[in-house]
Amino acid sequence: MTDRLDGDLRDLLEKGHQAARRPPVSSWQAIADWPEAPDDRLAVILAGQFLLGEEVTAQACRNLSRQVPLASARDCLALQAEEEQRHAALYRRFLQGRSAWPGSQGLLTPAAERIAAWQGPPEAVLLALHVIIEGEALAFQETARRFTTCPRFAALSRAIARDEARHVAFGQRYLPAALPQLTPAERQRIYIWLRGLWFDCMERLPLAAPFPGVRGVPLRLWAQRWARHRWAHWQTHLRALGLFDGMDRKMQAGLE
Ligand SMILES: [Fe+2]
Ligand SMILES: [Fe+2]
Repeated sequence: MTDRLDGDLRDLLEKGHQAARRPPVSSWQAIADWPEAPDDRLAVILAGQFLLGEEVTAQACRNLSRQVPLASARDCLALQAEEEQRHAALYRRFLQGRSAWPGSQGLLTPAAERIAAWQGPPEAVLLALHVIIEGEALAFQETARRFTTCPRFAALSRAIARDEARHVAFGQRYLPAALPQLTPAERQRIYIWLRGLWFDCMERLPLAAPFPGVRGVPLRLWAQRWARHRWAHWQTHLRALGLFDGMDRKMQAGLE
């Protein structure tokens, strides 16, 4: 781990502290207190899934902030845990009085279970959260805003996405420095775990996807295609971060 990485992480941390001091803190409250929007069932369903994601991430970041070796990374993760709790509180507020907890349709429930059961280097959980789950959530925030008509949801989502972009940036800085410290065998084990986590979550997609009028086989086929397509995207990211570096061909062949 280099001094440059430490400096980069301290900069990110400072941006986080600045964001907490600037007007958004009061506008958080303002958004949550906006008058009730016309009922938008889609926004409610999506907010329920996002709420689950915030809770899973908050808990994992609290644990990670005690596990990673670099002090500045621990500080970033502790701040992130606070921010995720704040996001969760806002979604809860948005959902007040409406039943939206996804329960058995929670897309990230399998991820939460796998993360809780993981025994091994913390980089596995960092990759799951800071590359795949938060990367996907950030991309999906944008889609969700386009598909919903609720201005309160859109404002909430935009405000939250600003913090999420910083969380993804943390992964992009920390992981390329941390992954080379692991052996190829450890990285291979992590890759197989991440792949399992992704496809376990995506098995729930046909249950969770709120498409009126699309069900049965067409919905399942769409979900399978989409899951494979997005996995190929994340695989490219994992490669760029150095997850496959130094692996011999035989090992790499076992990864696809
Ligand atoms: Fe969040
Ligand atoms: Fe986040």
